[in-house]
Amino acid sequence: MIANVRIMKILTLFLYTQFYFSISNCFPNQNDDTKDFRSKRAIEALNQLKLENLPKKLDWRDYGAVTAIKNQKNCGACWAFSTVETMESMKKIKLDDQLQELSVQQVIDCARGENNGCEGGDTCTVLEWMDKTRFNLTSENDYPLTDVQATCKAVESATRLQLEKNFTCNSYVGDEEAMIKLLADHGPLVAAVDATTWQDYLGGIIQYHCGGITNHAVQIVGYDLTGKKYQIFRLPVGEIPFYIVRNSWGSGFGLDGYLHIEIGKNLCEIATRVSTLSVH
Ligand SMILES: *[C@@H]1O[C@H](CO)[C@@H](O)[C@H](O)[C@H]1NC(C)=O
Ligand SMILES: *[C@@H]1O[C@H](CO)[C@@H](O)[C@H](O)[C@H]1NC(C)=O
Repeated sequence: MIANVRIMKILTLFLYTQFYFSISNCFPNQNDDTKDFRSKRAIEALNQLKLENLPKKLDWRDYGAVTAIKNQKNCGACWAFSTVETMESMKKIKLDDQLQELSVQQVIDCARGENNGCEGGDTCTVLEWMDKTRFNLTSENDYPLTDVQATCKAVESATRLQLEKNFTCNSYVGDEEAMIKLLADHGPLVAAVDATTWQDYLGGIIQYHCGGITNHAVQIVGYDLTGKKYQIFRLPVGEIPFYIVRNSWGSGFGLDGYLHIEIGKNLCEIATRVSTLSVH
């Protein structure tokens, strides 16, 4: 019996370690200067923000601007997934073009600078690289996902999207209402996050114990400020505003591939390193 427990513990530790390494590889550029800085803004303060001109709830999925959940598997290229997902959304939103899957694999294979394919990369430097090289992003069909890094291929394709020069990469720690405004006025965002505890996420709104490092990257596709009563063990614990966050660990993760993270506390480092972008 004791031996069994010990084996279970070792096995759990082993699985956790495997998992941890697959995500921690994903985003090696730590922002040490912002690491210990926490938003002091409480939920009450958030409720007093001048957001009355904005919708109380916004989900870009409702506007047909978000493609199906992707799966990075053992490839630590969250930086490429979150960026390409947002390029897909912005093609639909800004160009009023059809929603189309674009090639994450092309970015994994081709992007240079501080980006190392499945070994990790950075959501800000990939935008700089796309801008500097005038990179043409092609479609998923023409350059399909394999989740394994290979040599960069030149493809003939009707789909050629370039990044607009005015992309941004900022910290909104302590100023998350700016993120709400960007989500409403501009579109989905790319965000670096701390996903260390996410393997335990089954649903609900993450409100505690998440943050400290950035080891993953995601797309934020919306928010909900309507303050739904949220319950733990059937006890209402308040009205929690949250971000609607899209992950790239398949649709079996969390809420059909998504998770909800409380707004206003830089939880999971969600406000630490955030990008907006447009395409043409
Ligand atoms: C991207 O495509 C344009 C044509 O639309 C071409 O002129 C340009 O050279 C391409 N950029 C790269 C880096 O291949
Ligand atoms: C950048 O430029 C595009 C095209 O002019 C515009 O639609 C977009 O709102 C601008 N801002 C950002 C943050 O992309």
